[in-house]
Amino acid sequence: MRLLVKNIGTIVGIDTANRLKISGADMDSMERIDNGWLTAEDGVITAFGASETMPAEEDFEVVDAKGGMLFPSYCDSHTHIVYAGSREQEFLDKIHGLSYEQIAQRGGGILNSAERLHNTSEDELYRQAMERIDEVIAMGTGAIEIKSGYGLSLEDELKMLRVIRRIKESSRLLVVPTFLGAHAVPKGYKNRQDEYVEHICNDMIPAVASECLAQAVDVFCDRGFFTVEQTRKIIIAGAKYGLKAKIHANELDFSGGVQLGVEMGALSVDHLESSGAEEILALKSGDTIPTLLPGAALFLGMNYPPARDMISAGLAVALASDYNPGSSPSGNMRMVCSLASMRMRMTPTETLWAATLNGAAAMGLSRSCGSITVGKVANFFITKPLPSFEFFTYAYSTPLIERVILAGEVVK
Ligand code: NIG
Ligand code: FE
Repeated sequence: MRLLVKNIGTIVGIDTANRLKISGADMDSMERIDNGWLTAEDGVITAFGASETMPAEEDFEVVDAKGGMLFPSYCDSHTHIVYAGSREQEFLDKIHGLSYEQIAQRGGGILNSAERLHNTSEDELYRQAMERIDEVIAMGTGAIEIKSGYGLSLEDELKMLRVIRRIKESSRLLVVPTFLGAHAVPKGYKNRQDEYVEHICNDMIPAVASECLAQAVDVFCDRGFFTVEQTRKIIIAGAKYGLKAKIHANELDFSGGVQLGVEMGALSVDHLESSGAEEILALKSGDTIPTLLPGAALFLGMNYPPARDMISAGLAVALASDYNPGSSPSGNMRMVCSLASMRMRMTPTETLWAATLNGAAAMGLSRSCGSITVGKVANFFITKPLPSFEFFTYAYSTPLIERVILAGEVVK
């Protein structure tokens, strides 16, 4: 199948250098082409250029962009999109003054979702997750990382990961599955946290690996959840089976998770609401991607991470949605970018790279997606005609996405 997109007002997010990530000051510059066209074949971008060089239309399925902008699809590198039901009761608790930790301590939070998931069939979980998947596709996401972590027992973690595999096989998204058995200590292991960690390392990780159900392992390394030493054990156990590391770090406190992630060569350390000069210094010494989740900071009323300091230090910052029922019930990556501009003073260009190529890097996918580059998967979306590139981030609630193309096929 050959696709030609014509009458593109501007193609943005081009990376002819085919970089694996974009760091520091480079995050604020971007190649673009006005009055452009783009072709794809067998799901891959084959060429693009300015209108005078457009190939003849015959032999192509033609999409008329009608003067809209063409963006690379978002690469959302941190989600918990598979979950049962919702937690708006806790939203009310928060409105009435309880903190995320207080809700967790009284059996709400992640344990609440674990109980719901336990009582939900695999088919029903899949059905609920696919509604959210369709929602994020329509909002411009083309690649997504999905974590387990609401199972917290061998059977239920495998159930979640099988649902994630089914999403990977049936949706048009690129999907990276992550095992997050260490999301919380389950009820049955109360006050026996080290035993739960042993169970994760000795039983869960080998079982997950034997069915090839995950590409990465993640740990919630934070105050009240898992310690640095427990996290290290789990990462080492995962590495034996080829699982890359990701860490939920420094959301609730200066947990040491960032430094550990860099030391262990993690793909990413995520959240980082509590971080300063020491964390930035550690990140500068490695390749681990700092992934910021402003949707969670917004929803929980937390401080936003110091994105400007990170970019000034030359880091490749990524942005992700954290789509989950407890701290970020939204997978809207465009909103995440707008929030990053409004609350972390990232420019719209910086947010685009953070939400595309650097997100792809945080999933180990930047060879295949995250920019408009010949040879990459043809994942992109087309907007209404816009007065400027910046307008897309500025007019943050106006519906502007007209068409979505994934793997070279028009899905919206
Ligand atoms: O990334 N911080 C830990 N995990 C999720 C929240 C999960 C939940 O509350 O259900 C997060 O914010
Ligand atoms: Fe998360």
